[in-house]
Amino acid sequence: MVIVGAGEAGARAATALREEGWDRPITLVGGEIHPPYERPPLSKAALLAETEPVATTVLSQDRAAALDIALVLGTEATAIDRAARAVVLTDGRALPYSRLLLATGARPRRLTLPGHEQALYLRRFDDALALRPLLRPGVRLVIIGGGFIGLELAAAAVARGCAVTLVEAQPRILMRGVPAEIAAVIADRHRAAGIDLRTGIDIERIEPDAVVLADGSRITADAVIAGIGVVPETALAEAAGLAVDNGIAVDATLATADPVIFAAGDCAACAHPLYAGRRIRIEAWRNAQDQGALAARNMLGRGEAIAAVPWFWSDQYELTLQIAGLADVGRTMVARDLGDGAQLLFHLAADGRLVAASGVGPLGKIAREIRLAEMLIAHRAAPDPDALASPAVRLKTLLAARTKAPEVA
Ligand code: APR
Repeated sequence: MVIVGAGEAGARAATALREEGWDRPITLVGGEIHPPYERPPLSKAALLAETEPVATTVLSQDRAAALDIALVLGTEATAIDRAARAVVLTDGRALPYSRLLLATGARPRRLTLPGHEQALYLRRFDDALALRPLLRPGVRLVIIGGGFIGLELAAAAVARGCAVTLVEAQPRILMRGVPAEIAAVIADRHRAAGIDLRTGIDIERIEPDAVVLADGSRITADAVIAGIGVVPETALAEAAGLAVDNGIAVDATLATADPVIFAAGDCAACAHPLYAGRRIRIEAWRNAQDQGALAARNMLGRGEAIAAVPWFWSDQYELTLQIAGLADVGRTMVARDLGDGAQLLFHLAADGRLVAASGVGPLGKIAREIRLAEMLIAHRAAPDPDALASPAVRLKTLLAARTKAPEVA
């Protein structure tokens, strides 16, 4: 068993193979020198911490040794020889495989505008270490991109005393997958924290001490950090002749067209049964865990289709945002007021099926409700919209009494 990519998905797959009883060699290859670690803290706790953070390791060298998993770090795979069933590494080695998992992840999308070389990015632990010294009182920071990364960075930077301007090209923040009602709550919170939020405007160029916008305005900047999305790492797969369609194309079992090669996590575009077999690529921490474990089972021949509901979360200030399912698949929306400023939205498909739920507010207010909504989504439930809207009707009751939408071919 060879796994390329030692992030969340790759590490999860390696340990799952052992849990599932595989007792022969497992090799996990990673380009970074750090053993597999969690990325979510990099834009939150790692930036906020008073003292130098340590990586939150998910598979330490010791544990890998105990599980007899060969952890090959600081080494990249350069090619897949499908005929010989071997992966070629930068150190010249060829690793033979009987099953191969590509868990290669994604890399930050880079700016291309004049002066782009000055922008910094946040994806890896070393990036977080490099950014930390910039986040100190009085530093004028321009953040480009109003997605999860840009916004979490903004919340951390303002907490550390920076003066922050955030520039988002789209008309509002969080256009990708987050409903406008939820994004508005987050935007208000950032403005209340003192962040200058500029939406619907392009950047002309970056100068040594400023960012110049399309309307000619200059924002003085001591540092510029961009969080403008990620690009899936598909080059290895592509060079090996595997199909790529906004990610390495896999079926519902995470297998590519080559039945001994699988893909999981940020790099994989998977035909998802919950969404009419539409191929979707999910950039999320829990998806990496779910797909890593599923890929391991299917590398062992289980042939199990993906069932996990996509789930996304972000923490900013005291607010937590959670989304179960894919909100943009919904056609109608039902709101439920959870009190204490917490909001829950249900997203229903044309046939009445619940396809997503999104919420924002204090963690304690929304986590449980989103969890129950997730179960309703997994059961393909089509709850009565009036019941969904009424805080008096408990979601647990709806789960017990669920009605199923007809199967769509
Ligand atoms: N100028 C300004 N904004 C831009 C530009 C640009 N040139 N290009 C893109 N953007 C905006 C997009 O409109 C979007 O709102 O940047 C934002 C990027 O958001 P995401 O695609 O969600 O990506 P990002 O925030 O970088 O997160 C990357 O890390 O935490 C994970 O879930 C997250 O998988 C995602 C990844």
